[in-house]
Amino acid sequence: MDGAHKAVKIAEKVYWVGAIDWRLREFHGYSTPRGTTYNAYLVLGEKPILLDTVKAGFAGEMLSRIASVIPPEEIKIVVSNHSEMDHSGELPSVLKKLRPEKVLASEMGVKTLRAHFHEDLNLTAVSDGQKLDAGGSALTFYESRMLHWPDSMVALLEGENVLFSNDIFGMHAACGGRFDDETPAWRAEAAKYYANIVLPYSAVVKAFLAKAEKAGIRPKIIAPDHGPVWRKNPAEIVRLYGKWAGQKPENKAVIAYDTMWGSTEKLAGAIAEGVISGGSEVRVMPLSSSHRSEIASELLEAGALVVGSPVLNKQVFPTVADLMVYLIGLARKNLVGAAFGSYGWAPSGIENLSAMLKEAGVEQIAAPLCCHYVPDEAALSAAFKLGAEISARLRA
Ligand code: FEO
Repeated sequence: MDGAHKAVKIAEKVYWVGAIDWRLREFHGYSTPRGTTYNAYLVLGEKPILLDTVKAGFAGEMLSRIASVIPPEEIKIVVSNHSEMDHSGELPSVLKKLRPEKVLASEMGVKTLRAHFHEDLNLTAVSDGQKLDAGGSALTFYESRMLHWPDSMVALLEGENVLFSNDIFGMHAACGGRFDDETPAWRAEAAKYYANIVLPYSAVVKAFLAKAEKAGIRPKIIAPDHGPVWRKNPAEIVRLYGKWAGQKPENKAVIAYDTMWGSTEKLAGAIAEGVISGGSEVRVMPLSSSHRSEIASELLEAGALVVGSPVLNKQVFPTVADLMVYLIGLARKNLVGAAFGSYGWAPSGIENLSAMLKEAGVEQIAAPLCCHYVPDEAALSAAFKLGAEISARLRA
């Protein structure tokens, strides 16, 4: 431990005691150019509580921040809201040091933590709605299954009305400020997090928000496990989650492609012109310079996905296949689109791409646009027409 790392007070009895990872640039397939934070929280009371821990390698920083408030050994209860390693990596080492009276997780969390660490962590399961009175601080636990793991849960601190939301409402953004009002880029990063982590569970998000509404839960502060704490307007991120979960198509097309000798790129440009001519917004994203997770982010508030690939050895180009596998997993709903590309011997790779778009749930408004070698005026005109038709569908 050192004296350089300080806790940040977020409510009368609550301190942020997490770690900042300025170096992280990749999080299981998701690009993180701003790094991230692994948030952990200290709740004071007769029996101090530590909510969540940090990724392996960051325990020293977390313990130093705790030590700026109380000696870490005074912590009596540790809560693990989620067993993914960015929150549990240091759990065993921290438990060995703190030796708390209780270590709490959801029923599924007890199973998944055991499956991760294969050692006795002295875990106790808490059920949905269970309260914990820690002497002056009372927490209620709510299961948030599949947001985004089966073990996920959140905890609500009574009185101060702080929701410890685990991954929900989080974002990957390392920053000096700890609060939403100190973090100007929060909307784009929160959207990227939703698009790349939470999107497949949008039906669960809707149910979770409805359950919270019905229970009258309106937190004054939302404290997620990544990125800033929502203190200025927590209702805004809740509203955005409701919007994003709806996956309503917007008047914007995303055109993603790769190219070998420039032919597929020419088609992409012509399709984009057609989209613009129809009065829709367009984002053209060459895979040579666009990360798959940036494309997923752009799709969050779009209505069309048009994907282009050259044919290589009868197949979809490898970078395009990578994108499609990722998007199939994210399962964005309510998109229209089309496949296009250039071929030499046979258009099989573009037909394969069309099948992948179908698997991703994209309603294709036209047969694949396949161009033999280099597009001529007729091929470019067909590409423009396809873009205009996409726009017409978006504006219908
Ligand atoms: Fe931040 Fe699902 O871990």
